[in-house]
Amino acid sequence: QANSMWGGRFAAGPAEIMEQINASIDFDKILYAQDIQGSKAHCQMLMDQKIISGDDGAAILKGLDQVKGEIEAGNFTYDAKLEDIHMHVETRLKEIIGDAAGRLHTARSRNDQVATDFKLWVRDTMDQMDQALKMLQTALVTKAEQHADVILPGFTHLQSAQPVTFGHHMLAYFEMFTRDRDRLRDARGRLNECPLGAAALAGTSFPIDRTQTAEALNFRKPTANSLDSVSDRDFALEFLSVAAISATHVSRLAEEIVIWSSAQFNFVSLSDQFTTGSSIMPQKRNPDAAELCRAKAGRIIGALNSLLVVMKGLPLAYSKDMQEDKEATFDAARAYALVITAMSGMVDDMTVNAAAMKASTAAGFITATDLADWLVRVLDMPFRNAHHVTGSLVALAEKKGCDLDGLTLAEMQTVESRITDDVFSVLTVESSVASRVSYGGTAPSQVLAQVENARRRIE
Ligand code: ARG
Repeated sequence: QANSMWGGRFAAGPAEIMEQINASIDFDKILYAQDIQGSKAHCQMLMDQKIISGDDGAAILKGLDQVKGEIEAGNFTYDAKLEDIHMHVETRLKEIIGDAAGRLHTARSRNDQVATDFKLWVRDTMDQMDQALKMLQTALVTKAEQHADVILPGFTHLQSAQPVTFGHHMLAYFEMFTRDRDRLRDARGRLNECPLGAAALAGTSFPIDRTQTAEALNFRKPTANSLDSVSDRDFALEFLSVAAISATHVSRLAEEIVIWSSAQFNFVSLSDQFTTGSSIMPQKRNPDAAELCRAKAGRIIGALNSLLVVMKGLPLAYSKDMQEDKEATFDAARAYALVITAMSGMVDDMTVNAAAMKASTAAGFITATDLADWLVRVLDMPFRNAHHVTGSLVALAEKKGCDLDGLTLAEMQTVESRITDDVFSVLTVESSVASRVSYGGTAPSQVLAQVENARRRIE
């Protein structure tokens, strides 16, 4: 039997497989609230413009509220024959209010309707994402303040480089998430134009008021070009790229937590709340939540990639390919919310093992740069020469099997005769970090100043 929406043109119904590949209701039903919100704004505008009568409009508005109530109460029947959420809402509306329901679709198409619904959903999700990021930033700043003067090895190439403070390390992530929030705000601004009223692709001959619907739905203004309005999925791509970048940031912290919580590092411990045991090895405490945060970044990057590939090369205007925008976006949003919340939980939960961090700075000649800087400052050596002299001292210490401060002054003087006792004052990790007071540097005093600054920026 032919479709009830376009049965005029069609004599027969679709093949079973056509129905299956075509239906999006399984996933787009979560857009019901946005769909009804958009329809109500459209209906009100049609009434105000006298495109539909006040009576029909009132019946439609009331009926839409009833449909929403039914969906929320869980007594709504979904049917793949009705394809998507838009047709489900309209079909049920017709059952409730009769033929007047058919007037709602005046001057509208599912093409501008779905673009509007999806934008509303992505916009809400961006706002939730911002709140979640705020929570993570708060956790990081709190940890940073508590451990502003805890010293650990800073790495480059995962080789001991220079000592840093744990607070400084936490604030590094704070900065990444600040940029993510900036990107979100920026993308939200571009998203915030209303496609409703673009109709199928060319606009409409009815005297609609697009500014009214844009305002009713809290958009900054209507979109300027009807073809672009129904073809644009940039907003979803931008959302996914912010999520992918941000999840990549989380994955780096997750990786560090995995490394840090190993027995070999033992820099941090996670409690029972964020670890799991092994079914065979009784001693195990595995950082599964961190590993899953690391992994879900892959999934979110995949969603971005998948939508980019779907959109690439599509001719204007709407093509059904674009229905594939939703599953990837919904899945990525769900994964992202899990990742940010789990990471906030882990940052709160994490116990910092200051003694193990400090102990591990003993390896790797970690204050060699401080020694070179001393040669520059006190002996007025050009830095390149100081680098060379320090390199020789490191080689000497390595041969002797000690750290730099294990060399005697006499041994040092065999390499550079002008070195004095004063050099030992710069070889401790405490003096090293305390000296790095340049803006944004790792000194505890800088970290505490940056904590204050960070708190203000969370807003
Ligand atoms: N379910 C469709 C989607 O999500 C709605 C738009 C359908 N438009 C059309 N011309 N068939 O993209």
